[in-house]
Amino acid sequence: MILPDEMRHVTYHTPGGPEVLYLTTGPVPLPRPGEVLIRVAAAGINRPDIQQRKGAYPPPPGASPILGLEAAGEVVALGEGVTSWRIGDRLTGLCNGGGYAEFVAIPAGQCLPWPAGFDAVQAASLPEACFTVWANLFDLGRLAPGETVLVHGGTSGIGVTAIQLATAFGAKVYATAGSAAKCTACLDLGAAGAINYREADFLADIKAMTSGAGVDVVLDMVGAPYTQRNLRALKRGGRLVQIAFMQGSVVSELDLLPIMMKRLTVTGSTMRPRTACEKAVIAEALHDLVWPWLEAGTVRPVIYETCQWSDVSKAHRLMENSSHVGKIILNIS
Ligand SMILES: NC(=O)c1ccc[n+]([C@@H]2O[C@H](COP(=O)([O-])OP(=O)(O)OC[C@H]3O[C@@H](n4cnc5c(N)ncnc54)[C@H](OP(=O)(O)O)[C@@H]3O)[C@@H](O)[C@H]2O)c1
Repeated sequence: MILPDEMRHVTYHTPGGPEVLYLTTGPVPLPRPGEVLIRVAAAGINRPDIQQRKGAYPPPPGASPILGLEAAGEVVALGEGVTSWRIGDRLTGLCNGGGYAEFVAIPAGQCLPWPAGFDAVQAASLPEACFTVWANLFDLGRLAPGETVLVHGGTSGIGVTAIQLATAFGAKVYATAGSAAKCTACLDLGAAGAINYREADFLADIKAMTSGAGVDVVLDMVGAPYTQRNLRALKRGGRLVQIAFMQGSVVSELDLLPIMMKRLTVTGSTMRPRTACEKAVIAEALHDLVWPWLEAGTVRPVIYETCQWSDVSKAHRLMENSSHVGKIILNIS
């Protein structure tokens, strides 16, 4: 394929609400050594994109300033030294940025094939949630088969993946969500119990659901108002894994005694600043364990809505309204 010099991509002049987003034209990125260039067919929307658009989550040095942390498409050029992919391969990749565009360059090790039978939209829904859940629930959280886990935000893009992967792994999953319908969705995805956090105290409910025992792991994206109860919800040897602080990271008063009395681990991480090597190690684990689950239908993509990328403002508004269950995807065409 002869590559054009220019491509369309989403941009904004000044940080702000969803209305600041618009399509513009700019140069097609060149793949650097170790990168593949793909022509994007679909790109996933993630909550960190909202933060970036608001000016609260700047891209790391060297990353594309264009929004978009995951994209699926066809390989159209190879950077120096890439042998793992060929022109024409269809892949889905964890981008360091730049997914809301007609072309994006991605480190080859951060890419995975479209699972058999998947279309571009389904493939684009996978990387950010799968990489994040793997790194936090299984690596840092050391979740083991037979253990119990509480997933906050069970119907988020991250949550629907965490519920399914943990269940497939042989763990017993509980989830929180903000409505009865969302709780039903969590149960349909395999959760053993779901708590409507707007109507019930999740700590009291999780204790009741586990006969007072609590859980081995908590995956949390809420932060401050949940921290004390998260520590109390954990069993001896439990792990609290923090992947975001949607309601703040500063707790005015916190009793740390449960950490000592129950030998707890408090940890967490963010995916974007990790090195390409670290991300490639996660990709290998996903390829070996999670991709067969996707191809067998054990774990399925949960697509809430696909928007044309000319409607990118609408898609961001949809995510911020938080009525979605699963992923919101942009169709790039
Ligand atoms: N650490 C990392 O590397 C990493 C990577 C990607 C994403 N993240 C973070 O993970 C989170 C989810 O990302 P996403 O893209 O999947 O976003 P998303 O689909 O928009 O999910 C946000 C979720 O938060 C839930 N929520 C809000 N307040 C809650 C509360 N008090 N208790 C329980 N749930 C609550 C919402 O559910 P309701 O509408 O029902 O309230 C919604 O499902 C975001 O905070 C994002 O920044 C972290």
